Amino acid sequence: MTIETSPEPGATAADEPETETTTALVATGSEWWRSAVIYQIYPRSFADSDGDGVGDLPGITARLDSLAALGVDAVWLSPFMTSPQHDAGYDVADYCDVDPLFGTLDDFDRMLGRAHALGIRVIVDLVPNHTSWDHVWFKEALAAPEGSPERARYMFRDGKGPNGDEAPNNWESVFGGPAWERVTNPDGTPGQWYLHLFDRSQPDLDWENPWVRQQFLDILRFWLDRGVDGFRVDVAHGLIKEAGLPDYTPPEGGGSMGGGVVGLEPEILADATLDPPTPPYWAQDGVHEIYRSWHAVLEEYEGDRVLCAEAWVEPLTKLARWVRPDEMQQAFNFTYLEAGWSAAQLRGVIDTSISAFATVGAPSTWVLSNHDVVRHATRLALTAENPQGDGLGPDSPGLPDRAAGLRRARAATAVMLALPGSAYIYQGEELGLPEVVDLPDDARQDPTWFRTHGARYGRDGCRVPIPWQAGATTYGFGPAGSTASWLPQPGDWDAYARDSQEGVPGSTLSLYTALLALRSQYALGTGTLEWLPGYGEDVIAFRNNGVVVIANAGTTPVELPAELPGQVLVASEDLGEAALAPDAAVWLLA
Ligand code: NOJ
Repeated sequence: MTIETSPEPGATAADEPETETTTALVATGSEWWRSAVIYQIYPRSFADSDGDGVGDLPGITARLDSLAALGVDAVWLSPFMTSPQHDAGYDVADYCDVDPLFGTLDDFDRMLGRAHALGIRVIVDLVPNHTSWDHVWFKEALAAPEGSPERARYMFRDGKGPNGDEAPNNWESVFGGPAWERVTNPDGTPGQWYLHLFDRSQPDLDWENPWVRQQFLDILRFWLDRGVDGFRVDVAHGLIKEAGLPDYTPPEGGGSMGGGVVGLEPEILADATLDPPTPPYWAQDGVHEIYRSWHAVLEEYEGDRVLCAEAWVEPLTKLARWVRPDEMQQAFNFTYLEAGWSAAQLRGVIDTSISAFATVGAPSTWVLSNHDVVRHATRLALTAENPQGDGLGPDSPGLPDRAAGLRRARAATAVMLALPGSAYIYQGEELGLPEVVDLPDDARQDPTWFRTHGARYGRDGCRVPIPWQAGATTYGFGPAGSTASWLPQPGDWDAYARDSQEGVPGSTLSLYTALLALRSQYALGTGTLEWLPGYGEDVIAFRNNGVVVIANAGTTPVELPAELPGQVLVASEDLGEAALAPDAAVWLLA
């Protein structure tokens, strides 16, 4: 990586409110993560080798060849560490071991070895904001007296009111309900309260405590020593809380996973001049010195490693602070994810993303789906608002027709995979999977569902185990004959199964495979985007490294350049008479 000093480009992410430094450092380089396509494996729903209904590490190892055939550069694995699974593994009880549900450390090493042999890098999930309440650090904290070093690992506070029976402040959990839980002292009397921004089984660590910081430096080294290529950092905007923990009431419309700040529209959030209020638990300036220290740890290791921030921070110019040259390498672009299927919104978000990240020399990332959001084959065609994290049920308003949703999703993916930077895809989207909206209530497992007493469905609908084989029990998710699946799979998924789509022209799997091969062939990930005027308001049209991309987000067909046919590289739908139908996208040789 080279680091150059560039002229101060005005109001940019390089502005440093928390320090006196204002120099804009621009880093450029050829590291793999700048342009990689990274496939998210959600281990519990990917492939189950032992038939217990939960996917596992040997299952992943056995299926890695199919990801190599798809053409991904890296995988990111959601947590598989020891956990009581109250939040599907995002409640970690031992950061340096594998939960028996998923296998053993030896299974992890075998998976990593196989991935590397196939040329696939491996990123693991690190959850630093909170531990599980089963973690020995928390158990020791509960057993220790108030004011002890053990309690100082977490955010314990006295309650308010004469008997201390009111929570220390008014903060709410992202999953619903209060963000504080009162403990009972060893002698049975009511004790202090502890903060949990998520479930009550996920107590927040106190990152002002140097002891906590040191533990995580050791955890980073543990996985780096095993050979991982990087970390996806959970809640990377939440580690530091404002001093004094002041009351805070989020504006109406906020409340997404980690709090899209105020729930504004993406075209507004793409506005670099906007400075929405900062909640006292998100995006505090103090988080950055933590990531600088992590950056230094990664530098101790040979090769290019990556830290990717899961930081729901808006606008993008502010998010870019997470990827300054001495901090993280990537941050998920949730403003892009939250854009609708609208040419104007997408143009705005794409422009702002590229320029905001460029001011700090970082690539933009792109993402349409993950394990926390409604799958984009459903989301992009919803006709009613669905705040992120609420999920969908059978009675949710605005549910789209499956075919219409898939059509938009394929077009949107064709746009995303043509953009310069790094793209994340979520397991199952390459099969065109929709959100499962009709899970029985008693099958739901997301803490959001329980903490809101069913008012929010939560995220189970995008987490259903994926189908590999038509006609097989569990669609081949589990071993032959196994019928166990931790969430029930719909009865009509044969057509989505991987083996129904492999090598089939026009299938979503064939589309993704072609897009990834062409993206690599034309080096689109390291290219430059140039907008093409003249196609109309509802059309996204740009050139990148000799490939012209045209997507029709409107309602009437769009004429393609006269020199067609003969130059089509790939299209999300069959092309009509030199016209691009609504909700279709095409890549042409420029
Ligand atoms: C973000 C993760 O993606 C989500 O699944 C989890 O529930 C929260 N962080 C809490 O760890």
